[in-house]
Amino acid sequence: MSDADGYFGEQVAERYDRSPDGEFRPDVVERTVDVLAELAGGGRALEFGIGTGRIALPLAARGVPVHGIDLSRAMVARMRSKPGGDAVGVSIGDFATTTVDMTADGPFSLAYLVFNTVMNLADQDAQVACFANAAAHLAPGGCFVVEVLVPELRRIPAGQNVVPFETGPDGWAYTVYDTVTQDATCHYISITPDGRGEARSIPFRYVWPSELDLMARLAGLRLRHRWDGWTRAPFTEDSRQHVSVWEKPRD
Ligand SMILES: C[S@@+](CC[C@H](N)C(=O)[O-])C[C@H]1O[C@@H](n2cnc3c(N)ncnc32)[C@H](O)[C@@H]1O
Repeated sequence: MSDADGYFGEQVAERYDRSPDGEFRPDVVERTVDVLAELAGGGRALEFGIGTGRIALPLAARGVPVHGIDLSRAMVARMRSKPGGDAVGVSIGDFATTTVDMTADGPFSLAYLVFNTVMNLADQDAQVACFANAAAHLAPGGCFVVEVLVPELRRIPAGQNVVPFETGPDGWAYTVYDTVTQDATCHYISITPDGRGEARSIPFRYVWPSELDLMARLAGLRLRHRWDGWTRAPFTEDSRQHVSVWEKPRD
């Protein structure tokens, strides 16, 4: 399932940008980039899990210098093949531990990790390390931004640990929850035209906003904003996702 490219190998990279997911809608991308460009405040941005450049490329096109970290050469190759893709620096590695050389250009004013990708870090230690790594790349006054789902535990039926989220003639998908470890492994079964099944599984770790705040605090960061999304609507008890911004204090 997972190889040197992690869970985003050539097969996933090839179809990634054709996803019907709302995150790919031009107005959603534009709103995301509006917020990130403002938070970058004229400085450099570092994207954890840059992928095919869905956000990095339009952000760079606004004049924000962007550098990315990603495990997947296949995803990064897609970004490179797009207009402007050559201008974005990339370090291949794990964003929880990879250090970008800042000798020439100095630290970043913004680090960001969007589209639930913090959940790709499948245990708490890795998520904690990711916050420490973001903080280590930020200049004083800089921000770390995370966009992620609020854990959907209310969807787990009593006495069960499996929640289906796609059921159709072409396949089905479901999450298996472990509420002790916060593991939420997604299993995808696709039915091919000849009636055979193809299965793949990806481990995720769901994480609460309050737990992220503690990880930020451990890294020396403090919460500046928590919104319901890129519209900057207030985060409420009904919010299903959040965009959170932690800052590195100047003192
Ligand atoms: C859901 S995609 C998001 C890509 C891009 N940020 C976007 O919003 O479209 C997740 C990306 O994070 C990368 N990734 C996942 N876990 C990673 C890790 N621990 N270190 C580096 N990259 C990782 C994957 O290879 C993939 O490119």
